[in-house]
Parts: sequence; structure tokens; C-alpha cells
Amino acid sequence: MKTIMEPFRIKTTESMKIISKKERIKALEKARQNVFLLNAEDCAIDLLTDSGTGAMSTKQWAAIMLGDESYAGSKSWKRFEKTVQNITDIKHILPTHQGRAAEAILAQTLIKKGDVIPNNSHFDTTRANIEYVGGIAENLLCKEGLDTNNVSPFKGNMDIEQLKQCIENHGKDKIPFAMITVTNNTGGGQAVSMANIKEIKQVVSQYGIPLVIDCCRFAENAYFIHEREKGYSDMSLLEIAQEMFSYADAATMSCKKDGLANIGGFLICNDDTWAENFRNLLIIREGFPTYGGLAGRDLEAIAVGLMEALEFDYQRYRHATIQYLSNNLDEIGVPIVRPNGGHAVFLDAKKILPHIPALQYPGIGVVNALYIEGGVRAVELGSVMFGQFDENGTELASPLDLVRLALPRRVYTQSHFDYLVEVIKEVWNKKDQIPGYKITYQTKFLRHFTCHFEKISQ
Ligand code: F0G
Repeated sequence: MKTIMEPFRIKTTESMKIISKKERIKALEKARQNVFLLNAEDCAIDLLTDSGTGAMSTKQWAAIMLGDESYAGSKSWKRFEKTVQNITDIKHILPTHQGRAAEAILAQTLIKKGDVIPNNSHFDTTRANIEYVGGIAENLLCKEGLDTNNVSPFKGNMDIEQLKQCIENHGKDKIPFAMITVTNNTGGGQAVSMANIKEIKQVVSQYGIPLVIDCCRFAENAYFIHEREKGYSDMSLLEIAQEMFSYADAATMSCKKDGLANIGGFLICNDDTWAENFRNLLIIREGFPTYGGLAGRDLEAIAVGLMEALEFDYQRYRHATIQYLSNNLDEIGVPIVRPNGGHAVFLDAKKILPHIPALQYPGIGVVNALYIEGGVRAVELGSVMFGQFDENGTELASPLDLVRLALPRRVYTQSHFDYLVEVIKEVWNKKDQIPGYKITYQTKFLRHFTCHFEKISQ
């Protein structure tokens, strides 16, 4: 059979309503033209994020009932620790309530003012946590990663020459650790090859710089390696993940992605001194080190979810869904980032709306049109989200203006995708009428969540 069907049956449903176009226009006005400020119930298909929005399996729900809510040393903690160690073989495991809490602890214990942290592409919370303590977040994405038409299999890779240059320019003492984000969310959910991770590790090791993996989507990356990298097609996804983590000294994780849970994260490391410093902050910020801001039942759901994310049939179905969506968009001719990312399809807003200058935010134009036409909520990854300014305070345009359609895990079926394609087609047909936007209110950090927009009349 050539159809790859959902490898699950549906046991519980959640009803949703679709409000009218007139109501959507009103709702968006009330939300100051920022889809982050909409009520979720006013969104028919919510593709804002794949983070914490997935459906849990019967095994996860059953595990929830086994949650041991003891404050210290619970059975659930033991199961969580054992599962994370099985996948990563990393010594110290610290649970956190989500990924950014792990990033905050990492940044606040290791980064001094003026330190530089290289990465393929920092996610926005990673960058914010680094900048908050006075660090500099450098993106060293390979050149192919910036070209939305390039179909290289590992466009999430870091540019090794730029990494060497970065270390030579700043000196190893200014670089407390290097990072690699798998998959590379902000660069289009693109895969990072095992060869690249290995090479990064070799380079940084020569200078005694530790490597931290931002491993939110480690299982999706393992699937890409299985499918695209020579020498890995006979290995299980677990074995591939284990090799990936063998090059890491530490890792930050959001279990809201490949933990297939609605909340949770972890920070892990091999170094005993790092672990002690992390733990001190963890206790102040998150909780005792055997629960770290999570309930025992969350730890149980995550322990099951992490292993389910590594099931081959699950990953094959997830990637097939994304392929289905992108094939349909290809037929209409909508420009998207190639090849497919692991958790999302990314529309190329710059190419969809060439009449809108970068600093009038074509990404917001597309996002708002998707909402108005079909109640689809997507997110801009571009000049608004990355909000960069030069030393004179002049706003800089992002090299890419993308719109991410992030796919919650195990939530939407094929007819939802067919509807989504129709909505995108409608937006595509009306693209010449879509306006640019200006920002009328913004905060210093992570402005995209709360800023207000106004349409610019053409
Ligand atoms: N790193 C990456 C690569 C991420 O994609 C995210 C979250 C985080 C770290 C932070 O994790 O949300 O648990 O605190 N990404 C979500 C998204 C929010 O929509 O892409 P968190």
C-alpha cells in the first residue's frame, strides 16, 4: 500500500467551532492584529506551535495515573531519569518545567557579560536567555540554510569554517560552550547531520569548549538522519539518538516537542561541577531536583512520550503528513522552504508578498491573511520575531521572512490538512491585496508575543 496512514485510532475527541470571516476580522482587530493575542477558541486550526499542543497516547494517559507525587525521590522521577539516561547516556539529569527554564539555568550559571555562544540558529528563547545575562548569541548556519530553494538534506548544519573563525576571533575564554539545535527550528525545522555534530564536537574539543545540544526535536532529527545520511538506514532511531548524544557534554530539552507531553523539559550534563551549580539554581527556580517544577504524573507522561517519539512508524507518519501538505502547496505554486522541515511547513513570505518591504513585515501579512480567510493561526519567523537593531537603534531586516505552519503531534487528520490547503490557496489568490504592517507597541525582549500592529494602507 502506498498510503501511510495515521498509526493510531482516535479514542477521545475535542470539538472545535469555526467562527465567521466577519467575526475573525473583528477578533483580529481586538487582538491588535497580533495572532498571539487572539482567543484560542477563535482559531479553527491552530498551527501557532508544535509545543505542548500534541495529543497524548493511551499509554501516556495510563502512566499519568501512576504518577508518584512524593516531593523527593519519587518512582516517577526514577522512571524519567532512567528513560533520559537510556536515550542520552548523560550522567546528571535535571527536570525543568519547560525548555526555556533549562536555558535560563544554563545561561545564568555559565555565561559572563560579553561571552559568545555559537549555534547553528538560536531559538528566540535561547537567544533571549543568553542576551539577558549579557552574552552574545551568534548564528553560524551553513550557507544552504539561508537559501529557501536549496534542497540539501542537512540545511540545519552549522558552518564549520565560521565556527573556527568565531573561536579564533573571540578566543576560547569568551566561549563557555557552543550549541547545536536539532532540528534547526528557526531555520525551517531543517535537519542536522550526524557528521556535522561530530565535526562540531571535534573542533570545539580542540579548544576545550563543551558542546550543548538543544535537543527539543531530537527524534525528528534522528528520523532525518535515518532517511538521508549514509550509514544510518539500518539503525533504530534510538541508536541514532544515542550516537547524537554521545557527542554532547550537556543538553537542553523541551519535552513539549519530542517528549510528546503538554509540559516539561530537562537540562542534562556530564560535568559534576556544572551539575552542582545547575542544581543550586534549579532548587531556587524550579523545585527539588527530583521533580524540577513538574508533577510526578508529568514525569511519567514524558518518560513514555520520549520513547514513543522514537518509534519508527510514528516518525514515518509524521513526516508523511508534512510531505502531503507540501506536495499540495507545490501544486498551487506557493513558495515554501525546501526540503520539508521536521515539525512544520514554512511558507516563504518574502516571495509570496514581494510588494511588501521587509520592515513592513510580509510574514505578518501572510499570518493575518491566513487567519482572516480560514481561521488558521500560524506564526511569523522573520523580522518581527528576530527583532534586531544596529548600534544606532536602527531596525534591521531578517535575511528570511518565513511563516511557520507548525503541526501539533497526532492532532489533525487528513481532512484538516485538505481544509488548510484550501485556505492557503485563497490567500495565494488574494496575495496582491495583502497589506504590510507597522508596529505600534513593543517590548524589549521577545516582542513578537505581545506587540501591536497596524495595517499600512497601500
Ligand atoms: N529550543 C527550541 C529549538 C525550541 O523550538 C523551543 C521552543 C525552545 C528551545 C524552548 O522550549 O517552549 O519548552 O520553553 N519552541 C516553541 C516553538 C515555543 O513554538 O517553536 P520551551
